[in-house]
This record gives sequence, structure tokens and C-alpha cells, in this order.
Amino acid sequence: MTSIAGRSDASLRAELLHDVAWGLSRAQKELPPKYFYDRRGSELFDEITRLPEYYLTRTERALLDCWSTPVMVALRPRALVELGAGSADKTRLLLDAMVYAGSGEVYVPIDVSAEFLDDAAARLREEYPTLGIEPVVGDIADPLDLGPDLPRPALIGFLGSTIGNFDAAEARALLENVARAMRPDDRFLLGADLRKNPAVIEAAYNDAQGVTAEFNLNVLRVLNRDLGASFDPSKFEHRAFYDRTLHRIEMHLVSTDDQRVSIPGVGEVAFAGGESIRTEISCKYDRASLDCMLGDAGLVIERWITDSAQTYALVVATLARDGGIDA
Ligand code: AVJ
Repeated sequence: MTSIAGRSDASLRAELLHDVAWGLSRAQKELPPKYFYDRRGSELFDEITRLPEYYLTRTERALLDCWSTPVMVALRPRALVELGAGSADKTRLLLDAMVYAGSGEVYVPIDVSAEFLDDAAARLREEYPTLGIEPVVGDIADPLDLGPDLPRPALIGFLGSTIGNFDAAEARALLENVARAMRPDDRFLLGADLRKNPAVIEAAYNDAQGVTAEFNLNVLRVLNRDLGASFDPSKFEHRAFYDRTLHRIEMHLVSTDDQRVSIPGVGEVAFAGGESIRTEISCKYDRASLDCMLGDAGLVIERWITDSAQTYALVVATLARDGGIDA
């Protein structure tokens, strides 16, 4: 498999325009969370991962610290494919373990940002001279093509609880893409945030330093810069709450006043005071809901790894032998 070129600026811009026009025309206005992550947004997210309230990243890292080696030694994958190139230090834990297991040949990070991938790939090539580093530019929600030449078995990693950003239908589609790309001896490694005391979850998305608020507001700056929109970020407020029925955080930007925003290519968008744009959902799971979600996509949990407080889970899944419950 070779590194493919990034999509053209024109096609990315067309998709952004489409997503914004569609999202802001809905009764509950919304924007896709993938637009948080420009350079500034990625820096802010990095800062979030170090906040005392944001337990997700450090808990997942502690699990990977303990379990990367035993998992790699048991699976002996020849390739690690990572959906969303993720944070470099978590990737290194997995790559170190795959090299230690003696099976690792190739690392394939898949990410929308060609720039991010190129930087990461150059560094990893120096650090892991024995591994082929073969980045692929692509949207993780698109069908996954691992190509005929990828050494197998492959471990497909989807870490960071990014799955939580997808609603049930989107998550099912993504997991079906993963299952379709898998062969019987491949495995899927999923990182997922677990249901817990709502106060703990809400604190993680309402940090005392206001970094999450800045991260949320950054999406308006992205639209101003990339589309020439006229959002005034000081006229929107960060709001994040846990929905106990849907088991998910919702993050919104609430308009402080009646206001109109012009977005070239989309038009004028009116906001009433108190009206919000939903900018992200972050779903939380338990063993049963993950069994069910993975099962619907034709995957079964082979290994369930969690911390003693059941804060976060690493799941190793395999193809269901019968192709899933409704095959
Ligand atoms: C990177 C999607 C896992 O949902 O917790 C952090 C993003 N949003 N704080 C999450 C995020 C607000 C994060 N994910």
C-alpha cells in the first residue's frame, strides 16, 4: 500500500460548505466535530488531554502501558493500522510492543490531515527503522481499503474514544467498514470511554481553566478563516452537559443574543438568543452496549481490558464467525 495524495483543497472546501449549510439549516443547528482540528484546535485538544479533569487520555495511556505488550505478543500482528493518526506517544507504546513481539513490519496511520501525517511519518521513520511507515490520507468514516499487499494479520486500532463522536447509525457504518476490511486473523483494538458518575464526565468537558470552551469556540474561527464567515466568538458561550438517557456528552455553542451571521456560499444564518449549535456528541459505553454495537457490525469482543475503577475500556474484537447476528 502506498501513501495516497490528500484530497484537493477544492473538494475539502466543497465538503465543508456542504456540512455547514446542512448542519446550520437543521432545527437543532449542528456542526461536525472534525472541523475542530485545525492547527490551533489540535493544540487546544492536546492541552485538554493534560487537564486534571480530562481523565480519558491518561486512563487510556495507563491501560496501553500495561497491556500493549501482552496484547501484541498474543496477536503477533505484522501490521498496525491506526484510524486517526492519534497522539504520537500512544502510537509509540503500540509500535514498541509490536516490534518487541517480533512480528511488526508496517504501520499505516490514516488521517484527514496530510500535513500532520507527513510530520508524524518522518519522525517515526527515524525512530523505527525496521518498520515500513505508510501513511494514508483519508476520512476514517469512509470505506477502509487496506489493499491486497498489506502484511497480515493486521491490528486495526481506533483509540482515544473517538468512536464516541459518532451517533449510533454512524458508528455502525464505521464499524461495518472496519469489519468488511478485516480477515479472520485480523483484530480490531477499540478505546472507549465508559459510563460513570455524570458529575465526573461533565467536569471533563467543563474544565476550570476554560480550555474546552476555547476548543469549542475555535470551530467558529475555522469557519471565519476557511469560509470567510462573520462569527463573533464573543457572542457564543460554551455549554457541555451529560444526557443520562442517551449516555452522551453534548457540547454546544450558545448564542448570547439574537444575531445574524453571514457565511459566503451558505447565506445569512439567524440565531435567537439562547439558541445553540451542537458541535459534538461524545458517547459513553458499557460492556453490554459495546457488545451490541460491535455485534451489529459483525464483530465480537475477544478481550475486555479496563482499569479497576472501570473508567475506560480497551476492547480487542474479532470477526464474528457467522458474520454477525443478522448475517
Ligand atoms: C477526541 C473525540 C475523544 O469526545 O472526549 C475533548 C474530544 N471534546 N473535549 C472527546 C473532546 C471535548 C474528545 N475525543
